[in-house]
Parts: sequence; C-alpha cells; structure tokens
Amino acid sequence: MTPFIIVALSTDGYIARDSSAPSTVWTSKEDKKRFVEITKRARVVVMGQNTWKTFGGRALKDRLNIIYSLERLPDMAPEVEITSKPPADLIAELASRGFTEVAICGGSQIYTMFMQAGVVKRLYLTIEPVLFGDGIRLFKAPLDYKLKLIDDQKTEGGTRLVEYEVI
Ligand SMILES: NC(=O)c1ccc[n+]([C@@H]2O[C@H](COP(=O)([O-])OP(=O)(O)OC[C@H]3O[C@@H](n4cnc5c(N)ncnc54)[C@H](OP(=O)(O)O)[C@@H]3O)[C@@H](O)[C@H]2O)c1
Repeated sequence: MTPFIIVALSTDGYIARDSSAPSTVWTSKEDKKRFVEITKRARVVVMGQNTWKTFGGRALKDRLNIIYSLERLPDMAPEVEITSKPPADLIAELASRGFTEVAICGGSQIYTMFMQAGVVKRLYLTIEPVLFGDGIRLFKAPLDYKLKLIDDQKTEGGTRLVEYEVI
C-alpha cells in the first residue's frame, strides 16, 4: 500500500493564498495533467472539507472521493464518503477494499495529519514559478523526515515536477 501526497507549491512553499482559494488558477497545465493521471491511477482521493469546497463541491470523476469532515454537506453526492478516522485506520480500510495507492490531496490540515501519522510513502510535488509571500504552508506542524529524490523534471514554462520517496 502506497499512500502519497500530491500537491502544487509556490516557489516560496505555499499551497494557497488562503483556505478558500482554489489552486487551479495558478497551476500549470502540466500540473493539472499529472494530477489527473496520478489520482486516476490511485483510484481514490482523500481531502479535507476546505479543499473539497474549492473544487466547487464536485466529486472527482472515476475516483472514490473521501472527504474529512465531521458533517456531510447537503450538496454532497451520495457516493462521496465522509470520514474522521485516524489516517492509519483509513489506509488499512482502503487496503482491505483492494486499493494499492491512496492520493492524499490536501489541504494543509490533511497533509499535516497524514505526515504526522507516519503513513505517507511518496510525495509528488509540483513547484510553480510564482511567489505568494504569505498564505497557507504545505505543513503546519514540525516534522522530521528524510526524503530520497526519485524524479525531477522541468517544463518549458519553468515548472518543476518532483517525486520523493519518504525514507
Ligand atoms: N496547491 C495545492 O496542491 C492544494 C491542494 C489541496 C488544497 N489546497 C488549498 O488548501 C486550502 C485548504 O487547506 P486547509 O488546511 O485550510 O483545509 P483542508 O485540509 O482542506 O480541510 C480542513 C477541514 O477538514 C476537516 N478535518 C480535518 N481533520 C479532520 C478530522 N480528523 N476529522 C474530521 N474532519 C477533519 C475539517 O472540516 P469540518 O470543519 O467540516 O469538520 C477541517 O475544517 C485551500 O485553499 C486549497 O485550495 C491546495
């Protein structure tokens, strides 16, 4: 089972300007393509309620959508699953349902919770050539991990597509 984080970052390390700002307005077409490819390969996406709202409350097609929240929003389709389980429990449940990868899709609260739980094995980072100066950071608590660089590609527009293994 390979749970992984997939995220787009400004070059100064932010994932968004604020908790309701959609990331799709500043990310490259290469990032959007990679997000669709990798999350469809995983077949399951996990995200927090704030991130779900930035997607306009629409489920991502052809993937099981699992949303961290204490309540189901009225406009959520019935096939969307709501959870508040500890990360290790959710990953174990998804493994028992036949999934071999899980895409952890943010935001900062969810990325931090999964990293702190020690279940994340890969990071797919897109580093976009933009600066925010302020905003929401990828993680919001101290972490202590070493990473092994697996892949690092650069697009014509200056976007870097990086993959790390969590050691
Ligand atoms: N650049 C990127 O790649 C990227 C990716 C993803 C998100 N983002 C950005 O990140 C921002 C949102 O991040 P965020 O940190 O504010 O919020 P978030 O992580 O998306 O969601 C936080 C919400 O998740 C729920 N939650 C968290 N832990 C929970 C638990 N243990 N049990 C049940 N529910 C739990 C809570 O919802 P309830 O209040 O309903 O309980 C909480 O308010 C947005 O601006 C979005 O665009 C960027």
